[in-house]
Parts: sequence; structure tokens; C-alpha cells
Amino acid sequence: MRPLIAGNWKMNGLTEDSANLARAIRSGLGDLAPEVLICPPATQLAAVAAILDGSGILAGGQDCHTKRHGAHTGEISAAMLRDAGARYVILGHSERRAEQGETDALVAAKVEAAVAARLIPIVCVGESAADREAGRQEAVVGRHLAGSLGAEFKGVVAYEPIWAIGTGRVPTSADIAAMHAFIRTELVRAQPAGAETRILYGGSVKPGNAAEILALPEVGGALVGGASLVAEDFLAIIRAA
Ligand code: PGA
Repeated sequence: MRPLIAGNWKMNGLTEDSANLARAIRSGLGDLAPEVLICPPATQLAAVAAILDGSGILAGGQDCHTKRHGAHTGEISAAMLRDAGARYVILGHSERRAEQGETDALVAAKVEAAVAARLIPIVCVGESAADREAGRQEAVVGRHLAGSLGAEFKGVVAYEPIWAIGTGRVPTSADIAAMHAFIRTELVRAQPAGAETRILYGGSVKPGNAAEILALPEVGGALVGGASLVAEDFLAIIRAA
């Protein structure tokens, strides 16, 4: 399976910075093998997608609403993301689960909306530090998978331990491999396409640790936050894939 390296810019980037970053990534890419995705803030999506057009690098959204259109002030539908150039959408990121109180059921409804709009969902799952300390990480991730994906999931799963996001702390390679093996087993057990689903790792992926993480069994790519905001760092992670 071709690895996927996805950059999540989160709430960062005004017009000029975003355009410069997208151009730098585009021109630095050459003909590297992994699939590459950039998820800018919604205000920059159309402009970034236009800059990436024809490069093979795809654009994506960071969230979408469950409805196609209607009276939902401030919200953005999956169809709108698709229309603005997105091909993927990140759903259920732990920052949204924490800050917006997103539940597994809501994420599952967003998955359905995304697929209906021909977007590929990237569903984030992962445990907190307290869950990990108590040895509950598989129970928590299992619950996320059971509740967030829906019945016939065709998308990408991103394992992102909350305590590793933006902290510079990463699980040991053995812990990442164990969790990815657990996720694969759960996907195969519960989903018709479970054997083919790509499972990304996310949480403090940097140029210095990317090669080791990306070589682990069942790691099908990376979801990169902070390091995707620096072209050279993101390109180095892509080269490691
Ligand atoms: P990070 O973020 O790479 O800055 O840790 C990852 C993510 O939240 O997707």
C-alpha cells in the first residue's frame, strides 16, 4: 500500500504564508513516491488547492458538518470542501473531540457526510496520557473505532495518542507497532475493507523520527501537525516514507 503523508496545518496561516508554504512543498517534492496531502485552514483551501493543482499533492479539509447545506451558521459542509478542491477530510481530531465536545456518534455522522460528498475521511483515534498510564489505551481506541467509523468504512484511520500531539513525546516503536496491530485486528474483525484501510501514525512526527516510525509494521503513513508548517521538515518526512 502506498504510504500517505498528510499535513494538518490546524489554525495556522494567512494568505501569503499559506501560498508560500504550499509552493515550497510543491517545488521541493520532485517525483517522490508517497501520496501527499495538505489540509490548510478552510479559508486557504481553494487557494492552496489551486497552487497544488497538477502536482499530485492533494488538498483536504480539517472538519466538516454532518449536513449538506442549510441553516448552520459558521459551519462548512463536505460538499463545500469538495467544491473548494478537497479530496480528503480529517474528522474527529482529538482537538475537536476536546474543544468542541465531538462524540464518536457525531464523528460517524460526519464520516457518512464526507463519503456522500466524495471525500475520503481520515478518522483520528487515540488515548489520553491518563488512559495510557492506566493501561486503557486499547479499550479507548477500540471504542473510538467501534463508534466513529460507521458500518462500511472506506477511509483512513489515524492513531494519534493525545499526549504525543504537539509535545515532542512519542510512544516507543514497540508501543506504536502494538497499537497499529490492535487497530488492524479490530478493522479486519468489524469492517469489510478492514484489511486494506491505511493506518497513519500522528503525534510529534519529525524529520528525526519519521523513518523509524514509517518503517514499523501496519504504519501506512503519518499525520503531521507542527512539522508540516515548515516546508523543509515536511519534505524530509515525505522523503523518509
Ligand atoms: P503534531 O500534531 O505533529 O504537531 O504533534 C499532529 C496532529 O495533531 O495531527
